[in-house]
Amino acid sequence: MSSNSSSSPSKLQSSSSNGSPSTDLPLKPIPGNYGLPFFGPIKDRLDYFYRQGKDTFFQTRIQEHQSTVFRTNMPPGPFISSNSNVIALLDAISFPILFDTSKVQKLNVFVGTYMPSTALTGGYRVCAYLDPSEPKHALLKRLIFSILASLHDKFIPLFRNCLSELFVNLEDQFSDKSKVYFNTISDKMSFDFVFRLFCDQNPSDTRLGSKGSTMSDKWLFFQLAPLMALGLPKLLNFVEDVLLHTFPLPAFLVKSDYNKLYNAFYGSMASILDEAEQSGIKRNEACHNLVFMAGFNTYGGLKTLLPALIKWVGLAGEKLHRELCDEIRTIVRAEGGITFSALEKMTLTKSVVYEALRIEPPVAFQYAKAKDDLVVHSHDAAFEIKKGEMIFGYQPLATKDPKVFEDPEEFVGHRFVGEGEKLLKYVYWSNGREIDDPTVENKQCPAKDLVVLLSRVMLVELFLRYDTFTIEAGTLLLGSSATFTSLTKATSI
Ligand code: HEM
Repeated sequence: MSSNSSSSPSKLQSSSSNGSPSTDLPLKPIPGNYGLPFFGPIKDRLDYFYRQGKDTFFQTRIQEHQSTVFRTNMPPGPFISSNSNVIALLDAISFPILFDTSKVQKLNVFVGTYMPSTALTGGYRVCAYLDPSEPKHALLKRLIFSILASLHDKFIPLFRNCLSELFVNLEDQFSDKSKVYFNTISDKMSFDFVFRLFCDQNPSDTRLGSKGSTMSDKWLFFQLAPLMALGLPKLLNFVEDVLLHTFPLPAFLVKSDYNKLYNAFYGSMASILDEAEQSGIKRNEACHNLVFMAGFNTYGGLKTLLPALIKWVGLAGEKLHRELCDEIRTIVRAEGGITFSALEKMTLTKSVVYEALRIEPPVAFQYAKAKDDLVVHSHDAAFEIKKGEMIFGYQPLATKDPKVFEDPEEFVGHRFVGEGEKLLKYVYWSNGREIDDPTVENKQCPAKDLVVLLSRVMLVELFLRYDTFTIEAGTLLLGSSATFTSLTKATSI
């Protein structure tokens, strides 16, 4: 895209950040304003958390400005973020500028307009907060690629093992109750999986015992509280706003839990830490990065991903379940097991996973700063963004863009089958297009393929064991909840 601050306001030649053909769109000023200093950000924060709620917050502004690109403040605002002014991008066309690291900087913007204290990560800025222009980003991301490559053969058997324990647990709970809350058992399974994957031992055999997932939850909460509302009665909104959104929670309150996690990883990852040292990263810095990779990126990611997947597949109903059973069982029988090649042949299962990632991307927010003056375009206009301005994308609106996806609010299991595959370039959950690959030069999730693989294995295990199931869905601080209300065992395999 060409930066062109001197172009006439009527038409401007620009191309989209994803390299699609140039378009000739009218250059318009970005609508919206930030209000008065301090009061504007507070008003927007109260609208976002309490008066309107997330989705209405964005929808009303799209209506008001008749534009999917506009200026607003994003929480938390004072006093946690020093500047909460952003340019919001809420359509599929403008959004990918956030992935283009030649045009935007991703320094310290991993969670938004504030950065949690580095006291929560051993005093280090971990990989996710680094911009690719910082040499350490490539060093650390290369280490993560290398770890993932070395664990490749473990992914399927280990995850199946963990899922097997999860389903035994689910059935046990069903024998006592008529409903089973999925998130808690999913979190426990996810932490066990993460620890067994990276540390090659069961967390219960370490000093973490069975508390790894709750310790991680607490540590995650200290980092993400400024973005959360607890859903308390209205009377308590003010107190909550002061406690969670105005000042950072003191990191020392979670230090002892974090140290336990750190020590457990440090004690079990000797060979990975050796590799890190050889590549020039200090041993303790590498370990803090690995705790973040395991506890935030992987455990935190699975914590939102798996309940959302179960929720959407559950709500899709029996017809889709029958089709998934047919596909999964036929291919597993023909291939003689659950292998990478068997999973690759499951076109419907693959599509269902992409659809879940489209309709409810596990990480909803992306931020980046313009490196230079640049021009971004939506479907119907071009907008100039100045060097240093913060750009923000609320991904669920970009991946439910009605000008790209038919029935965007519907969960359509077959959406990405056959010709539908062409739409994968509009699936952005990994902080990049689904057809692109993570590299050390970009900020796309290095575990993009692993995450898709695990989601497929989850569906395969589910529909090998059960014919159908029903779900009650709910919303949580960040993400969805799923409660199983019935589970019908497989009649044929
Ligand atoms: C389980 C589900 C996962 C989800 C939903 C997820 C999602 C994401 C997203 C959206 C980003 C980009 C954030 C941004 O800069 O805006 C990201 C980055 C990252 N993810 Fe993942 N991730 C998951 C699993 C993992 C796993 C298993 C690993 C580790 C092996 C991992 C390691 C990372 C790292 C290191 C980054 C920063 C990349 C960079 O700085 O270039 N993630 N992830």
